[in-house]
Amino acid sequence: MPKKQDIIKLFEKIEIDPSWAFADKTRKDTAYITHGYHRYPAKFIPQIVSRLATKYTKEGDLVVDPFGGCGTTLVESKVMGRPSVGVDINPAAVLMTKAKKTPIEPAKIEEQFLKLKDKINSFDKDTKVKTPSHERIDYWFEPEAKRKLAFLFSKVSKIKDQDVRDFFYCGFSNILKNCSIWLQKSNKPTRDFKKKPADPFVAFSRQVKAMLRGNADFFNLLQEKKCLKTPCNVYCTDARKIPAKSNSVSLIVTSPPYVTSYEYADLHQLTALWFEYTKDLSDFRKRFIGTAYHNKKELVLNSKIAENIKEALLKKHKKTAEEVATYFSEMNQVFEEMKRMLKNGARTCIVIGDTSLKGVEILNAEVFVEQLQNLGFKVDDIIKREIPSKNLPSTRDKITGRFAKATDKKKVLAYPTEYILIMQKI
Ligand SMILES: C[S@@+](CC[C@H](N)C(=O)[O-])C[C@H]1O[C@@H](n2cnc3c(N)ncnc32)[C@H](O)[C@@H]1O
Repeated sequence: MPKKQDIIKLFEKIEIDPSWAFADKTRKDTAYITHGYHRYPAKFIPQIVSRLATKYTKEGDLVVDPFGGCGTTLVESKVMGRPSVGVDINPAAVLMTKAKKTPIEPAKIEEQFLKLKDKINSFDKDTKVKTPSHERIDYWFEPEAKRKLAFLFSKVSKIKDQDVRDFFYCGFSNILKNCSIWLQKSNKPTRDFKKKPADPFVAFSRQVKAMLRGNADFFNLLQEKKCLKTPCNVYCTDARKIPAKSNSVSLIVTSPPYVTSYEYADLHQLTALWFEYTKDLSDFRKRFIGTAYHNKKELVLNSKIAENIKEALLKKHKKTAEEVATYFSEMNQVFEEMKRMLKNGARTCIVIGDTSLKGVEILNAEVFVEQLQNLGFKVDDIIKREIPSKNLPSTRDKITGRFAKATDKKKVLAYPTEYILIMQKI
């Protein structure tokens, strides 16, 4: 049994490793090949995945991402000739991943794009369009934008080749926010009545042109590396039920959701609405780990640190305490699934930062290490990295390292940090 205090002390000693900030990388570098197809909250940069996969795997080794998001791990694994499996509970994420991980003969999509452009050019005020009747679509889109989007959607739906169709669906999904009255810079679903939404046809055309370049680069790179056929599969399922055989996986690279931070179900509601992924948002939400939801069943935290966090939160806010306990218990189940899949001696790399809720520090990284140790993993390495951001760095207290008030005299400027926990199955 690891001692709680030992883990806390271990973390206190870890220094920032500047080489993991990839501070020299531009947006062009992090969005190369297909990585820039679609925006996704809290996606990690491909350079993290490739560096880990280079260090811990060889060609042909199976890589898994249980919280696959928009597919960063899968795309990088394919480029490196590592077969991969990714899952995500969010169908919008799975759609993006399918498009991003699938290289398509460039001429094939260009031909289809020309046909779509012809159809767009034939559109006028008399064109008959069957528009969806959903009050949430009317909530977000002005009538003309809705008509044009419905037209585009129906034309893309008629494309027979599934890979080509998914490519255009992904493009369609990524323009929805710009074409709606969703407050542009907000990750929260807020309407902006002053916004001038983009014209769907102009936005779609621009989006597809950028994706065509990404696809061509991806296709050529894979061809050059002889990796076009490397298997790469994504499933819309739960991180606790991964379709990978026991003891078959050489590396897991993942960034889990945070507790009550992003409501992914809400964030992708524009895509979910058009693709009819769900009629009932509240039921959809419950399937996501880390959402504001309390599982009433008996929770197994498997960590003293997590128990302490729960106790501290109970004194401040019962509901948050229950949600955090649910989160840690569900993450423990994900770690059990990781253990099942991994080969002995293989590693799981988890990208996670600590946060705070209701004035209580939520030591995600420390809890995860304790849970994983209790399940039969050992610490191989823990990397602390800064997350370079275009935003101004936050201020931190010089002594405690905690985020400080701007008026605090002891403050120093610091970028937010996160950990990469590298845990080995023993
Ligand atoms: C931080 S994001 C991962 C981002 C990813 N690394 C990328 O680069 O796109 C966490 C993901 O966990 C997914 N998720 C939440 N609950 C899940 C569950 N029960 N099973 C599988 N995935 C889940 C969310 O939909 C979200 O895509």
